Amino acid sequence: MNLKQAVGIESAKYIKDGMVVGLGTGSTAYYMVEEIGRRVKEENLQIIGVTTSKATETQALALGIPLRSIDEVEHVDITIDGADEISTDFHGIKGGGAALLFEKIVATYSDKVIWIVDESKMVEHLGKFPLPVEVIPYGSQQLLKKFQEKNLNPKIRLTSDEKPLLTDSKNYIIDLYLEKISNPTELAEWLDHQVGVVEHGLFLDITTCVIVGSESEGVKTINVSR
Ligand code: 5RP
Repeated sequence: MNLKQAVGIESAKYIKDGMVVGLGTGSTAYYMVEEIGRRVKEENLQIIGVTTSKATETQALALGIPLRSIDEVEHVDITIDGADEISTDFHGIKGGGAALLFEKIVATYSDKVIWIVDESKMVEHLGKFPLPVEVIPYGSQQLLKKFQEKNLNPKIRLTSDEKPLLTDSKNYIIDLYLEKISNPTELAEWLDHQVGVVEHGLFLDITTCVIVGSESEGVKTINVSR
């Protein structure tokens, strides 16, 4: 079993009958969704899933997991998702899979947020992983210039045929190649105030639990007090 699968299976143990569960996106979250699907089928687990992307929606529907949109549920009990980087103070970068907008919305309305990662994602400072920023296409070239002027090293994310990648909400992603984010709160606040920015991949003070898979230590669960 690989580390992504190990943490995905471990995280699914937190899901109990009657829960509304936020289902994250990406290659690690994939294994969690598979395991929840197995439990729904084999253990008759009774849950409602709230997906964070079209990809996860397609996977969950194929597994027979009943789904609702975030607007059709009172609240979400637990969201389980992957992450691109997690710092020592448990802030994160997400959006490598371009699903950051729905991921942040679902996480915001969740009582608990579990991140599942392999050890390569645990870092001292955020920023080696390019920070994804979801922007409205109209005016995106102006934003790109603004980010350049601020030395944020922006690049519009492209598909394999060199066209701007479109998110599930038909927006663009601008990745910021920063190497090190010395003040994530300050950067998040600045990005929050830029017209045309829909959302960014700095997930600050959001996770309540991190499940890390490592070759040497196996699966480790870290509870984060908020
Ligand atoms: C998608 C995400 C993913 O959770 C993140 O990119 C991690 O993905 P993976 O588990 O494939 O490394 O934020 O938008």
